[in-house]
Amino acid sequence: MFLQKLRLYNFKNHEEATLIFDGKINCFLGKNGSGKTNLLDAIYYLSFTKSAINPYDLQNINYGQDGFLIKGDFNVEDKLKEVICSFQQGEKKVIREDEQEGARFAEHVGKYPVVLIAPQDIELIWDGSELRRRFFDSLISQLDRSYLENLITYNHQLKQRNSLLRAFAEHGKIDFDLLETYDSKLAVAGEYIHKVRKELLMGFVPKFNGHYDFLVQGGVENVDIQYRSDLLGADFITSLRKNRKRDLLLLRTTVGIHRDDFLFILNKKELKRMGSQGQQKSFLISLKLAEFQTIVEKKKLKPILLLDDIFDKLDDFRIHQLMKLVSQGTFGQMFITDARQGRSEQILKEAGMNARLFVLENRTFKEEWLKI
Ligand SMILES: Nc1ncnc2c1ncn2[C@@H]1O[C@H](COP(=O)(O)OP(=O)(O)OP(=O)(O)O)[C@@H](O)[C@H]1O
Ligand SMILES: [Mg+2]
Repeated sequence: MFLQKLRLYNFKNHEEATLIFDGKINCFLGKNGSGKTNLLDAIYYLSFTKSAINPYDLQNINYGQDGFLIKGDFNVEDKLKEVICSFQQGEKKVIREDEQEGARFAEHVGKYPVVLIAPQDIELIWDGSELRRRFFDSLISQLDRSYLENLITYNHQLKQRNSLLRAFAEHGKIDFDLLETYDSKLAVAGEYIHKVRKELLMGFVPKFNGHYDFLVQGGVENVDIQYRSDLLGADFITSLRKNRKRDLLLLRTTVGIHRDDFLFILNKKELKRMGSQGQQKSFLISLKLAEFQTIVEKKKLKPILLLDDIFDKLDDFRIHQLMKLVSQGTFGQMFITDARQGRSEQILKEAGMNARLFVLENRTFKEEWLKI
């Protein structure tokens, strides 16, 4: 699968653009602020129906306009698939595939997988557990549609249950039968999510370790990802019942998979505290490459790889190792951004790879071929 053509209307700083891509390597080059990351975000949108950067669709409309449209022509085993994602102010966002309107977002996610490696990944290490849960949720959702359905159900039920706890406190009366029906629904979805998260991690960690070892080559560093959950070794419905008193006091649900965490470990210590910047960067890249590999295994389909400012994050040795992987044909289509055109050209030349270059300048695209 690869993206053949991208059309944009009023998406962020791109008022109108049409780009025809190479099936392998494409580079977006140009000054800071020229819109390279925004192009990657448009591709991300076609896959995830949302931005990797802005949580609100409104923020992605070109300033002063009233809507945006992203259109992608994907080549899937030599068949053309047209995906359109559009949003008009005051209306609902629409995703269309081959003219078929109203596909559900949960059904679309995972059909055209992408893996993004970007500077903001560092937040995965520094932020709270929510971002790490979101990372794994997003990966699993691409592989298992019922996971996403269960996650939506769980979040909905959790909200409802918390409102119920507050309503009980307000009215000074507790309806335990009603609480039991809420708890049982929450427990079914929660148990499913827990089981899938646990299973995924078992396969994920060895891949992740393999990539880390490859990038750092024979270092004495030892990395791991550990799953923490209230549900490990406990039956969820029983825990919910056991903690009801506390929940009624605190007016929120204090056990469940919404509190899960994935600990990032380096040499038996928390990466956040102990890892050097270089070690943290290598950790994140290995994490994303393991994501890529997991999708390939489960879907028999190579995701599109979006590499935002990747070269900035790596020393020469690691760039060399990464390009070695790339040239082995491990990856499918790739989009690379770089503010330094010369550097990217040199790296690609050294790796012996042809690439399509798009140089962004004064709102236009200059297209070139880098041929070896
Ligand atoms: N909704 C919007 N409408 C118009 N312009 C926008 C919108 N959102 C962001 N921009 C502009 O897009 C530009 C940033 O684009 P982008 O992040 O893609 O740049 P970049 O080429 O990746 O830069 P860098 O090399 O610094 O990473 C900013 O100048 C920003 O003002
Ligand atoms: Mg950028």
